[in-house]
Amino acid sequence: MDIVKLDLAKPELKLFGISASPRIAATDWIVRAGLRYATDNWGAKTRYFSAHGKKINFCIHCDHCIKEGECIHNDAMNEVYSGFEWADAILIGTPVYQGTLSGQAKVIMDRMRAFVASNPHALRGKLGAAVADGGDRIGARYQVNT
Ligand SMILES: Cc1cc2nc3c(=O)[nH]c(=O)nc-3n(C[C@H](O)[C@H](O)[C@H](O)COP(=O)(O)O)c2cc1C
Repeated sequence: MDIVKLDLAKPELKLFGISASPRIAATDWIVRAGLRYATDNWGAKTRYFSAHGKKINFCIHCDHCIKEGECIHNDAMNEVYSGFEWADAILIGTPVYQGTLSGQAKVIMDRMRAFVASNPHALRGKLGAAVADGGDRIGARYQVNT
């Protein structure tokens, strides 16, 4: 597997932040803080998407994306697809729900199938990072090996 390193010296690093919380609260704050850090310290350009108030349909496994290269749904995921296309790096934040990611985060991840179906190399070279915030059991139970 290739190891992708973030080139902080690159002019105008493009960072896309996603908050997969239905609220404007902790996750929103954390992801925005990450974007602000990247701007202040690395001169990054940033874009932000919050799931708050957004209509995002479930993946219905119709395979339209596999056959036609685009999702059958026309909803707020278009903004997410556009952000992924634009970005060099992506930061996804999720609140912890029942020891795992939020439903919104899961749906966003499922719907990314269409993004990759449109171009199997669409994520190549992009760096991803994730943050999870919880209220009591303090975070999710999964480990991500990068
Ligand atoms: C349905 C639901 C399930 C939750 N499950 C957990 C959990 O398993 N562990 C935990 O630490 N916090 C849990 N919480 C608390 C949230 O993760 C926590 O309040 C989080 O900071 C909310 O993020 P937000 O302010 O961006 O919405 C849960 C909250 C909800 C609504």
